[in-house]
Amino acid sequence: MKKVILLVIPILLLAACASQDGGMGPGMGGNGMMERHHAEIPTEYAGLTNPIPADKESLERGSELYTVNCASCHGDGGMGDGPAGSALDPAPSPIAHSSQMMADDYLFWRISEGGVPFGTSMPAWAVFDEQSRWDLINYMRALGDGTVQPISGMGGTAYDPEIQAAQQAEILAKAVEQNVITEEEADTFTTVHDAVEQYRLAHPEVVQSGGNATEREATILAALVEEKIITQAQADAFTDIHDRLGNSGLMP
Ligand code: HEC
Repeated sequence: MKKVILLVIPILLLAACASQDGGMGPGMGGNGMMERHHAEIPTEYAGLTNPIPADKESLERGSELYTVNCASCHGDGGMGDGPAGSALDPAPSPIAHSSQMMADDYLFWRISEGGVPFGTSMPAWAVFDEQSRWDLINYMRALGDGTVQPISGMGGTAYDPEIQAAQQAEILAKAVEQNVITEEEADTFTTVHDAVEQYRLAHPEVVQSGGNATEREATILAALVEEKIITQAQADAFTDIHDRLGNSGLMP
């Protein structure tokens, strides 16, 4: 019985997506992860930094909270593939990955207020004291950078940058097919995106500098142009391609 239900729901979701015809436009309420990442962080959260060191104790507390409260939707490894999440639209985010890109203030805001500002099914976790919310952030980051191994329980794969890259390639191929971008633009996007990721890994202080993704991305692109890793034209093209992908609804 359970099997049947699990099979039917994704088909219904697919049908619903297909009938949307072209996906989500900018006016359709910000259901895309990209739009949430670029949203303005409310002033009471903006600039907050994690006061709890990611030591063994914090990771243990975070792990316990995560396994009980989050893994059902976000998956054991934080890839967004927990069993309770498969029927949700938008789907649970791959927080093992998001937490590498997004600053403390964004993550703390999103855990505290959940999907309320965006009308999604992400619950608000303000019932947890602040330390617990920071412990969760430490744990999500540790899942994403491989410091901890996922505890299996709910289901879902461990974070794997190669899976992430394959998913991105698939989205870009679809965008080319649907004439959202050209093949050349897909290549530019991949080149610049990889450079940005590498820069992020080499400069964790930029991720921690707070602010939303728009500001941080502009800072990183400027630095990459300055260091002659990419050209100004590539940086400009990237921002434009990024916007079109975001508006197309193809990016999660
Ligand atoms: C009922 C399913 C569900 C549970 C349980 C859940 N989440 Fe989520 N979460 C979601 C969905 C759906 C999204 C994507 C929509 C959004 O960002 O509002 C999300 C998004 C997020 C984001 C934003 C990530 C990003 O890239 O923007 C964070 C952070 C997060 N969840 C953390 C947690 C933590 C920590 C817990 C446990 C304390 C948790 N979630 C429990 C469904 C869930």
